[in-house]
Amino acid sequence: MSIRDLGARFDLAGQTALVTGCRRGIGRAAAVGLAASGANVVGVSAALEEGGGDVGEDVRACGRTFLGFRCDLSDRDSVYRLLAELGGLALPFDILVNNAGTIARRPAAEHSDDLWDRVLEVNLTAQFVLTREVGRGMLHRGAGKAVFVASMLSFQGGINVPGYTASKSGLVGLTRALANEWAGQGVNVNAVAPGYIKTDNTRALQDDPERSADILARIPARRWGTPDDIVGAILFLCSSAADYVHGSVLPVDGGWLAR
Ligand SMILES: NC(=O)c1ccc[n+]([C@@H]2O[C@H](COP(=O)([O-])OP(=O)(O)OC[C@H]3O[C@@H](n4cnc5c(N)ncnc54)[C@H](OP(=O)(O)O)[C@@H]3O)[C@@H](O)[C@H]2O)c1
Repeated sequence: MSIRDLGARFDLAGQTALVTGCRRGIGRAAAVGLAASGANVVGVSAALEEGGGDVGEDVRACGRTFLGFRCDLSDRDSVYRLLAELGGLALPFDILVNNAGTIARRPAAEHSDDLWDRVLEVNLTAQFVLTREVGRGMLHRGAGKAVFVASMLSFQGGINVPGYTASKSGLVGLTRALANEWAGQGVNVNAVAPGYIKTDNTRALQDDPERSADILARIPARRWGTPDDIVGAILFLCSSAADYVHGSVLPVDGGWLAR
């Protein structure tokens, strides 16, 4: 394709994207952005309504199909049941956006095994299992894009969220490990690293006047991000414009890491 046709490389028409955590926040924005770029969407979420609820409606309003699955990614058996259902669709997944994530805020000295296990299972283990299984089909076809959603806590320690930090730091290692193995086989594995985004995930920080002000003061863009702010980077990494991008972690953080 000529460089003059670069715009066409962002076109996802005819592709199928699997998006986890699609019901709200960044995942919902990503699902709609993918649909607006031409992709049909298969969405997964813990509490997804029958028919796909709001995200299903938004995707269909873009003229694309939406198929929804409810799955608790903290439960390994449910993940395997989901994979069996997805396998039954006999769809080639061109894109996987591993977005679902959870956070447990509790000081390290009081961070129970249960909290740790749940966060690691949702944020890291389920993502590995899904990517391994969906990625196998991509490898078979010699094409595919997998995107993980990392965090500022992939680079920094955070406060009161040791499991979350460990999971998001682990995701960066996983991104690189898979990219090393799969780059030569036509499959791109990358991550976006959102800064501080106004979603339910950061509700406790938004509601704490002191933490909220501290965070805002450190953001060069002088505002918290919105889910829509993250979508452009996700679409880029899902598109053919990123064919030579492998194992990267793209911060979308209003300049946070540049400070
Ligand atoms: N907000 C930020 O500032 C920020 C910054 C860096 C990274 N991130 C990451 O971005 C991703 C999306 O977060 P968000 O900010 O959009 O948060 P959010 O609004 O809380 O959305 C989280 C999504 O993940 C899904 N989810 C959570 N636990 C799940 C489980 N056990 N099984 C299946 N789905 C589950 C939720 O499903 P339901 O809606 O069905 O419950 C929801 O759709 C996460 O990986 C998060 O760590 C967020």
